[in-house]
Parts: sequence; C-alpha cells; structure tokens
Amino acid sequence: MNVFGVDIGGSGIKGAPVDLDRGDLALERHKVLTPHPATPDAVADGVAEVIGHFGWTGPVGITFPGVVTGGITRTAANVDKGWVDTDAASLLGERIGGLPVTILNDADAAGVAEMTFGAGLGRKGTVILLTFGTGIGSALFIDGRLVPNTELGHLELNGYDAETRASTKAKEDADLSWSHWARRVQKYLAHVEMLFSPELFIIGGGVSRKSEKFLPLIEGVRAEIVPAGLQNDAGIVGAAMAASR
Ligand code: BGC
Repeated sequence: MNVFGVDIGGSGIKGAPVDLDRGDLALERHKVLTPHPATPDAVADGVAEVIGHFGWTGPVGITFPGVVTGGITRTAANVDKGWVDTDAASLLGERIGGLPVTILNDADAAGVAEMTFGAGLGRKGTVILLTFGTGIGSALFIDGRLVPNTELGHLELNGYDAETRASTKAKEDADLSWSHWARRVQKYLAHVEMLFSPELFIIGGGVSRKSEKFLPLIEGVRAEIVPAGLQNDAGIVGAAMAASR
C-alpha cells in the first residue's frame, strides 16, 4: 500500500508516495525550497506544490520541526512563530483539497521509520534517535513504543540550548572542524545518556551520511551509537506510516 509522506525541513519541503510494505519511496521524491519566513501559509503552499506534483489523492502524513499535539503545532524553534498554536492539520488539509492529513514531529517520524525499517529494527529497551540538522530533534522509544515530543535538542548544556551548540547548523555557522564538533556532540550524548541510559543512540539527519567523519571520534558513551539506516528519507517514510495508522 502507498501513502504520501511530506517532510517539512529548515531548507526544503520534500515528499513522495511511500511504499509501506518496503518502507521506501515508491517514486523519486520532489522538493521545493522552504520559504523564508516559513509562515504557515507560505509553507502550506510548498506542501501543496509537492503533493500536486504527483497528482496525489489519498492520505498524507506531514512532519513538522516542532511539538505537535492533536494536529496543533505548539512550538516553532526554527520556523516562523506564527506556527505556535496553529491548527496545522486543518490548515494543510484545506490547502490540499481536503485530503486526510496526519501531522507529527519530524524526529518522531524519522524514529518511527528507523524502528520499523532501519537501524532500530527489532531493538528493545530504551532507544533514542537524534537528528542533527538545523536543530536537534529527538525520538524516544521504550520497547519499540514512541514517547512523542521529547524535545531533547533543547536540553541545557553548559548554559546553552544544546542545539545552538551541537546541531550541524552550529557546526556550519562557526565553521567548526569535525573533531571540534564531535567533542560537542560527545558532551551532548553523554548528557542525554546520564538522563535516560539508552541501549542505543541512532544518529539521523543529513549528517548521518557522513557518520564516518565524526562517530569514530566519539568516546566515553556507554550506549551503542549507529547512523540511521534510511538517512534523509526517514522523515518522509515515517510521516506516511503515521498517516496509515
Ligand atoms: C525542534 C524539534 C525538532 C528539531 C529538529 C528543534 O528545534 O524544537 O521539535 O524536532 O528542531 O527539526
């Protein structure tokens, strides 16, 4: 069965029909640039363009880079503040001709896909997926079951919001070397480990493609640390999975 998945990110809005049996894109994904400012209206236009590109008529799952409860977007750390307390499910649903919409946090979506088709397959106990990108997203699983909206990217580390120090955007903005950035990631992982003692960390986001540049540099973390298996498509796949439930 195919369901459409859309991933709203800091730089792009990407989507494709997803083959839910294989956990993979059924067609090559289509991407439009995220508008700036990323207001609800402007982003809704982008989402409509991505879905319209495929002439899709069926259920749609959409990720959002903030807290989402009951279709309402609650926070907006890296998008326009107009998203706070917006009924995003209704707004986006109307904009795409009334197709049924499920909306969830981006890291939660990526985590759900990783636990079913990727690096978390069959893993019991506490598993934490962290996505490193514009921000840091988190998805916490206990015996395969998601605890949604954990927002571990905003833990305080050395007096700072952790994602402002250890996201890939922080690396790029300050032009940090891999080893300098890896030290920050290590500190962050050690802090999360101190709080949750997970068995496994799954490292997602675009940077998971370059895991060989920084994962070998990380020491002193007891948990196993592995790169995401689905890499950048995990959000799209997880969104589609959420919409099929
Ligand atoms: C947001 C999270 C999101 C993460 C990755 C953070 O700033 O608060 O909700 O999952 O960025 O996009």
